[in-house]
Parts: sequence; structure tokens; C-alpha cells
Amino acid sequence: MIIQNINKTLIAAIFPLFIFTGNPDYEAIEPSGQPELVHLSIASKKTVRSSPSMTVTWCTSPTKGRQYVKYGSTPDLELGSGGKRKESDNGLIWTSVLKNLENNTKYFYKCGSDASGWSPLYSFVTEPEYNSTTSFRTGIFGDTQNNANNEEFQKTRHIAGLMQTYSPAFTLHMGDIVDNGSDAASWKGFLSVTQELNAAVPLMPVPGNHDVENKPGDNFQSPFPAYYDLFNLPGNEVNYSFTYKNVRFIAVFSGAAEAASKTGQVRYQPGSPEYVWLDKELSMAEADKDVLWIVVFMHYPLNSFGWSNIKLWKESLLPLIEKHRVDLCLAGHRHVYERHLQMKNGIPVPSDSNNTYTSGKGTVFITLGTAGGNPTETGGKEMPSMVFTPDEKMYSFGIMDISNESITLRVFSQDNIMTDWVTIHK
Ligand SMILES: [Fe+2]
Repeated sequence: MIIQNINKTLIAAIFPLFIFTGNPDYEAIEPSGQPELVHLSIASKKTVRSSPSMTVTWCTSPTKGRQYVKYGSTPDLELGSGGKRKESDNGLIWTSVLKNLENNTKYFYKCGSDASGWSPLYSFVTEPEYNSTTSFRTGIFGDTQNNANNEEFQKTRHIAGLMQTYSPAFTLHMGDIVDNGSDAASWKGFLSVTQELNAAVPLMPVPGNHDVENKPGDNFQSPFPAYYDLFNLPGNEVNYSFTYKNVRFIAVFSGAAEAASKTGQVRYQPGSPEYVWLDKELSMAEADKDVLWIVVFMHYPLNSFGWSNIKLWKESLLPLIEKHRVDLCLAGHRHVYERHLQMKNGIPVPSDSNNTYTSGKGTVFITLGTAGGNPTETGGKEMPSMVFTPDEKMYSFGIMDISNESITLRVFSQDNIMTDWVTIHK
């Protein structure tokens, strides 16, 4: 209640323009700042027990004056938060972090200003209490890049629409968000076709090789500026972790691993700052009794074949993942769906079923890079770790239900037909 009162005081201070129409500061402004490309991301929190926060990001054309988020647990939008302004190749980008939210609560919001116009009314639901028995659901997709047959992100639009029908709490994106990260318009294209999903469901991506500079040089393996401008993520935004309910999600940045393997610059080599960071992150997650599950996601798969099997990437990172209690390791890059055996220290974990596993015995590895990028081939059936890959090339997405007792990941085709499933039990 105290927080709400503070916010009401704040809104009175920063929203005089809502109350006093004809404010001289705004009389000369043309209505060019209409918000677009609205999307959410989960803001970091200190512990499992901290209150949820939500980051709202949106774009406008150049416009004077401030922009805001009006929000609340009813469509009256009784609270407010100012937007932080940034100029970019995509026009103005605005960000606002909504803090100290209540758990398991539906919030309505819109962003913009009286002078420039407001976005439609959107809503999102915050995470359940960390110790509740309520389950939650995430969507998983990757490789939405706008290459052949997906030039206008038409396949991605279809997949995102299907994902939204399952009402996930947030989505994980495995990278290769766009085909050419230096093209600012592509990023807008992706956020445009996925806006209805992203404005209701936080988007948590990790960069792929198409989202970063692939050519050796000073910026080699650095994400293009649009990534940092548009995706306001925890930490350094490429290697980061966040907690949702009682699950720790860790994003691992694989850079341009294939090109980097030719110059010895593969990330996560033992002793590197990233390697040390991840080792520590995983150790902390394991030691936290409130964290029931650990999910790691990255762009380059650790189990792959042919051109996508980057030896140094695998040799560097796989032992670190398998050393810790990682339940699930998700990846993209290869435009296939592949599910691999639960593994521990390089050895498959015995199981009575090809679809069910027990937590704590090893890590289940999945590649799911099929949300728009051209599916030019089928999965690597010849790999000894392979459990399932479809016989046909396909677009697909994942829906993952997480409870205190189990994780179940289902994979659906572009025709919304379940193709495969796997459950990890406690
Ligand atoms: Fe890729």
C-alpha cells in the first residue's frame, strides 16, 4: 500500500500534462510520437523472493517531450512510470521499468503521452510467488531471421501467433533474431510482427551469430547496436540470468562461434571471464535452496553435427554445463528440432523411457531453431546422442510447462500439431 501511495505521488508529479491540457510545452508538438513496437522484458531481481519488475520498451519517431507508462491492476491505470529516452537508428527508443509489482497479478498498461498519443491498452501477468504450487508456462523459439521464405517475417508472424494461443508467461528466444543485424529495419520488422505477443508476454532473447558482427576486427562478435537499444535485459544483456518463480534461467552468449573457431576467439574457453561467470552463476543457483530448476539457453548448440558442430565451443562449455545441475540446455542456430539424451559427464543417463527423465541426474539438450529461418535440412539422426528429430523439414516452436514437480516441454509444428515431448521429474 505504501508503494502504491508513493507511485500515486509520483504520478501526480510527472503527469501534469494528463491533467492540464494545453500545456505550453506541448502546444507545438506534432502528433508524430505514436508509440510502436511495444515489448516487455523481465527485469532482474536480487533474489527469488524479491518483488517482480517489468521492463517496457517502445519506439517512436522523433518527438519532443517525455513519454510514460500508465499502468495498474485495473484499466483505470492508476500508476505511472516515466520513460527513459534513447536516440538510435530505429528512431527514439523509450524504456521504463515497473518496479515492486505484486505477484500473480494482471496489470494493464499503455505507453506514450497525451501530446504524442498512446499505445493500445495491453496487459501482462506477473509471476506466481516463488513458494506457491502454481505452475507457469514459457514459449521457446529461435532463428526468426528474415532469410529465404521469411523475408517479411511472415513465417515468424505465424509461429508467434500460434505461441500466443498457449498464453505463455514469457518467451525465450535462441538467437538469430534477424538475418542481418546491421540492418536497423530488420529489427523493427521482427518486433512489428511479434508485437502482439511481446506486448503481453516478456521476450528474453540471447544473440545469435546473425545478430552480431561476424567479420574479424574491433567489433568482432559484438551485437549490433540495435540489440542493446531494443532489448533491455538484465546484466550485460548477452550473458545474463533471471529468476522466474523458483527457476533460474541463464542466457549464454555464443557470439559468432563458427567464425571465431577459425581465429581461436571462441567464447567460454576455460579461464575466460565468461567461463568464470557461468561457473559461479551455476554454483550459486545450485546452492540456492529456493531454486528448484536450472535452465540454460544459448544460440550455438553443444550437441550438433557437420558445419554447426563447433569443436572448441563444445569442448569448452559442455563439461561445465554437465558438471552442474542444469536440467535443460536449449539452443538454436541449426534450423532443426533435435532432442538429445540426458547426459552427465559425457555419458548418457540410463532411463526407462525416451520421453521422461529424472532431475539431478544430467542435462537434457535441445536444439530448436525453427521459427522462421529457412529450414533447409533435417536434423542429425546420425549423432549418438540423438533421441528424436522429425523426418521432415519443419517450422516449429516449444511450449514448456514448469511446476514444482516437473518440466514438460512440448514441440509443435507450424500446423500446431505436437511433434514431440519430454518431461523431467523431480
Ligand atoms: Fe545462427
